Amino acid sequence: MTSPGELRRRTLETLTRQSYSLSRPDMVLLNDNVNLFGTNPAVAEVAERFDFSRLWAYPNENSDALRSRIASEFGVSPDEVVVGNGSDELIDMASKCFLNPGDKFCSPVPTFGMYRFYARVNLATVREILLKPDFSVDADALLAEDAKLTTVCQPNNPTGNLFERGAVARILSDSSGVVVLDEAYAEFCGSDMRREVMSSSCAMSMRTFSKAYGLAGIRAGFAVARKEVVDEIRRVRTPFGLNSFTEAVAMKALDHGKWVQETVSRMKAERSYLDGRLKALGFRTLPSDCNFLPAKCPVKGPPLVVALKERGVAVRDCSMFPLMEDFIRVTVGPRPMMDRLLAELEPIVQGGRA
Ligand SMILES: Cc1ncc(COP(=O)(O)O)c(C=O)c1O
Repeated sequence: MTSPGELRRRTLETLTRQSYSLSRPDMVLLNDNVNLFGTNPAVAEVAERFDFSRLWAYPNENSDALRSRIASEFGVSPDEVVVGNGSDELIDMASKCFLNPGDKFCSPVPTFGMYRFYARVNLATVREILLKPDFSVDADALLAEDAKLTTVCQPNNPTGNLFERGAVARILSDSSGVVVLDEAYAEFCGSDMRREVMSSSCAMSMRTFSKAYGLAGIRAGFAVARKEVVDEIRRVRTPFGLNSFTEAVAMKALDHGKWVQETVSRMKAERSYLDGRLKALGFRTLPSDCNFLPAKCPVKGPPLVVALKERGVAVRDCSMFPLMEDFIRVTVGPRPMMDRLLAELEPIVQGGRA
């Protein structure tokens, strides 16, 4: 009998994905950059009024109501919006849509790993351009690659910084291929490059409800782009892609801008607190425009991450990224979570130094 492994596409041999599932339900999860200040109030409001008896029906094929609501919020037309199950699915769609086997895909690194993953699934040739030592983006080197698809994360995960606006604008305007601008963390720093994206012939701005909106569990994201780009993406989009409840919650969440702003302010206060306390423990933190803090450990990073996990706290190990040896990435949350992390870190750091 042939095993499924023998039938697997050859190119998948070396593709590995980090598993995010953690065994202990009581773990403090500071590893995935969600909004730890709570679930968006939209969920409770929609659940109260939602007609669950109509779930026998398919949802609206293109999530027209949500696209219209996003369009009015972002000052574009509904034809310039496409939605997906999280922005992850939109990155998947963009890769499927624009990358032929062998086409060149390029991104600055370190960055979010799923861009590379989907490029490789689609058999693209992957080129990665190292950030400069100050973690800024090398726009000239990126443009010189002349890639078919380029992704830029603004602000960048896992380094936490916003790239210089002019450099990103130049990548958007001067690329001959498609540029995906991933703005998953934009709400944490008020960044918005929609104008530059819309004036570029083949670019997309991707956004998510998973981070500042406090809705990672409903799986919703969207891309804003010129109609011609959206029309291409829709060729590979699954019909009925977004479920009805998700669509209703995402729409309602856009009415809760005040809640988003309040949790972002609370996050920023806790980020400064965490920054000070980590520095006092000997960590070198990077300035962050996101809801996470990258920090270079005063001891070896990977064993520290394992020891923390054994003590019930998960953080992201960044040692596998170039320029980030012995770095961890910590999602910022409410004070009790930050204090729990710090209490568990202290003996590990002291022990590591001994
Ligand atoms: C930069 C970036 N883009 C996209 C995503 C995926 O988000 P979503 O939950 O919308 O799929 C993440 C998740 O961590 C991320 O860090």
